[in-house]
Amino acid sequence: MEKQTNPEPERLGQCHTHGPYHYTWSKLHWPKSHLEPLRQEYDELGSAALSKLQELSRTQTSSTSPPEQTDLLALLKQHHPSDHTLSALWHELNTVPEWVDWAQLARGQRFFYRYAPANLMGFALQGFVGENSAAAGVVEVLTRTGGFSTRVLFRRLLETFQLVLQVTDFSSLVDSHVGPGGAAWETAIRVRLLHASVRNRILKLASTKDGYFDTAKYGVPVNTLDSIHSISTFCCNHMWLQLPQQGVHPSPQEMADYIALWRYVGYLLATPTDEYFSTVERAKATMESMLMHEHQITQTAVVLGHNFVECLRDLPPFNVSAQFIEAGSRMMNGDEVCDALGFDFEPSWYHYASWRGHCWLVRALAALQQSMPSGVDEIILRWWRNTLHGAVIQSHAGLAGGSKMDFKYVPRADQMTAKEVNGRSRLPRSPLYRPVEAIYLAVWFSGVLVMIIVAAALVSTLQQLT
Ligand code: HEM
Repeated sequence: MEKQTNPEPERLGQCHTHGPYHYTWSKLHWPKSHLEPLRQEYDELGSAALSKLQELSRTQTSSTSPPEQTDLLALLKQHHPSDHTLSALWHELNTVPEWVDWAQLARGQRFFYRYAPANLMGFALQGFVGENSAAAGVVEVLTRTGGFSTRVLFRRLLETFQLVLQVTDFSSLVDSHVGPGGAAWETAIRVRLLHASVRNRILKLASTKDGYFDTAKYGVPVNTLDSIHSISTFCCNHMWLQLPQQGVHPSPQEMADYIALWRYVGYLLATPTDEYFSTVERAKATMESMLMHEHQITQTAVVLGHNFVECLRDLPPFNVSAQFIEAGSRMMNGDEVCDALGFDFEPSWYHYASWRGHCWLVRALAALQQSMPSGVDEIILRWWRNTLHGAVIQSHAGLAGGSKMDFKYVPRADQMTAKEVNGRSRLPRSPLYRPVEAIYLAVWFSGVLVMIIVAAALVSTLQQLT
């Protein structure tokens, strides 16, 4: 099953650096010549099925006045027996690849909650700032949908998070929740159809307006290469680009389990995963190949990076400051990435100290959980699961029951996301207005105090001995 890659011989054995992360090029890494053609490949079955569903929807809604937002998944369920394309898609979605081991996927689900605070921070500061903002083709698509406007970005982030929370929801049996017919499975299909809607719409505009979208340069919107990159962001970045930077080190088994879980989600989203995510080593090499070949900060990336920070800064109830976001981003992604994104919020020493306090806290929590009896670990996992599901999916301030992943931000030929402000009044820089930063700062002070006491005790013991 695993294809031998054609390594770039001049790179073999070379050490590379990406911010604080170092890696060595091996024969498992993907050369640019292998990846580049994937930009022109895409989920053809998904796109064709979407066109059919839209046709069906038009015939149904033409009789309804006013037209209703169509539930494409409901149409797919209803019409797949009578249409060749829909039935091919339905069959694919209902076929579980033979490598899937549900027990492994169930273990993988727990990884997200076991290291929840570190995963959340990593997802935001590395996944969105460092990775999502830095993939040239992806940002060109995102900037055209308008979903990165600060007015709607927070909801979009929650929707993305909904998929993560549903995929990792261990409160039901994994094969009936993530597997065919389950809630996470349905959300993944909705996302696949949403991607197809975005792709078809942008391609349609590109065919009528010269220069609207450069498919020769960026590939087909939501193409296969970008999808591999995204799956890698969803599962690999936690392991090597996010958690270790916060002092948390998942075990090899945890890595294998979580990657397997997202490999299956990748399969549902029409991403070829066998060659890229079949083992931990391959997945790591895929992630590093993306760092090498795909990381590029363009002007569009700067706009989206700016809007991302605007969306999160001073957001109640946590009121995290732009300076803390910058301090954390710099520690996770490195100065080069943050300078290129134009981050210039001038964090002070106490923003870096707060960040360090955060790292110490999540590191201590992870170490405790790794060494605790499994019953205690389970209680903590359930608390995180219930809290996050309640806040993000169920609450009215969140998604009020969950999103159906409708196609809301439909690209228009004259619309491009620009730099925006969030419209909230700015809070003072002080950590006193910012509960999360204040707690982290307190952790940092406590840690420093403990270190001073231990050092003083050591010095006095040594003095007594001499
Ligand atoms: C293969 C892994 C991927 C996963 C798991 C994923 C996940 C999601 C999710 C959960 C949503 C719905 C929530 C939201 O609107 O943010 C979404 C929407 C979207 N995704 Fe993806 N995505 C992936 C790949 C990609 C790629 C490669 C692109 C390419 C640019 C992309 C572009 C978009 C766009 C444009 C939307 C719609 C946003 C809007 O309505 O403005 N996604 N994706």
